[in-house]
Amino acid sequence: MEYINRLIKKAALQGWLSQEKEILAEKIVQESRHASAMELLKRIMQQNVLSEDQIDQITAELEEESQLHVELPSRPTIFYIRDVMKSYRTPEGLFYALHEVSLQVYKGEILAILGFSGSGKSTLLSILGLLTTPDQGSRIYYNGILYESLRQEERDQLRKQKFGFIFQESHLLGHLSTLENVALPLRLQNCANAECVERARKMLLKFMNDTERQKTEAFFSKKPAQLSGGQKQRVAAARAMVHEPDVIFADEPTGSLDFDTGQNVMNIFVNTVREKRTTVVLVTHNPSQARHYCSRFMWMENGKLKNRLDSAMESTIRMVRQLSGKEFKK
Ligand SMILES: Nc1ncnc2c1ncn2[C@@H]1O[C@H](COP(=O)(O)OP(=O)(O)O)[C@@H](O)[C@H]1O
Ligand SMILES: [Mg+2]
Repeated sequence: MEYINRLIKKAALQGWLSQEKEILAEKIVQESRHASAMELLKRIMQQNVLSEDQIDQITAELEEESQLHVELPSRPTIFYIRDVMKSYRTPEGLFYALHEVSLQVYKGEILAILGFSGSGKSTLLSILGLLTTPDQGSRIYYNGILYESLRQEERDQLRKQKFGFIFQESHLLGHLSTLENVALPLRLQNCANAECVERARKMLLKFMNDTERQKTEAFFSKKPAQLSGGQKQRVAAARAMVHEPDVIFADEPTGSLDFDTGQNVMNIFVNTVREKRTTVVLVTHNPSQARHYCSRFMWMENGKLKNRLDSAMESTIRMVRQLSGKEFKK
């Protein structure tokens, strides 16, 4: 019974229980006092209080808690990721770009994924962002929905509506103005023209500096070729956010910029993200950037998230810790 109550509490925290469903869940528990946990779960599913995937996720979380003998912080989980593998065939045999990667991403956090070049950071990000498919058996739940259970159109919808991306290179379209580049995610969702333009203007303005704001229309109509590196990345950030996604995947977004410009882009980006409470997964190989902007770190090495750190890594990790005084998870 205790177990079911905790399960319901977690489901409520995830925002999966409408008032109606919460009442229904309570009723099921009340009426089935002497039923086993399994039977209760079955009823909860049958009456559509929770889906099988949602129960799977919560069950796994509860199992983890009982193994650790703690109740994990009550933050809603946005990504629940278990045993993600990604292999490529090579002449020498299978190569694992990702190996048994498991982690959670909490709603509204800015999570840093650190690691050397080639460690699998971009692969992980593009799998979470539905740009790459992992090996079979990899379990990724987004808000309780299992990726593997989605059809291609559903994946495309999810990616277009809920996710935003920023890469090391801005990937702006050369023939479009800055404003039209920013409006693109809205156009892909068939937003009405006037609304596209209005929302793109508003978002892009947030990412412009005072000088640029003095000549707003001129900036809006510039083509990417007329922009500096920092300006391009700010426009790319505005584009990633214009449709107010739930999650932004940022893959070394300042990797091609000098330090000051990079910091300027990050400052504006992080301010906007916090204002909107957007979840961010930030890939960086810059520990000081992680320290400044992120609430949690993870370290990747050879396709694995590290639990234990070998000596080669220890000094780097120690440095991150000292710099930050923040939690270092895995
Ligand atoms: N399409 C592919 N075919 C074969 N190997 C790949 C492919 N994509 C990535 N890899 C390999 O996977 C590993 C991880 O790559 P990546 O995720 O880009 O690393 P990071 O972003 O940490 O630099 C690298 O060794 C890379 O060479
Ligand atoms: Mg990369």
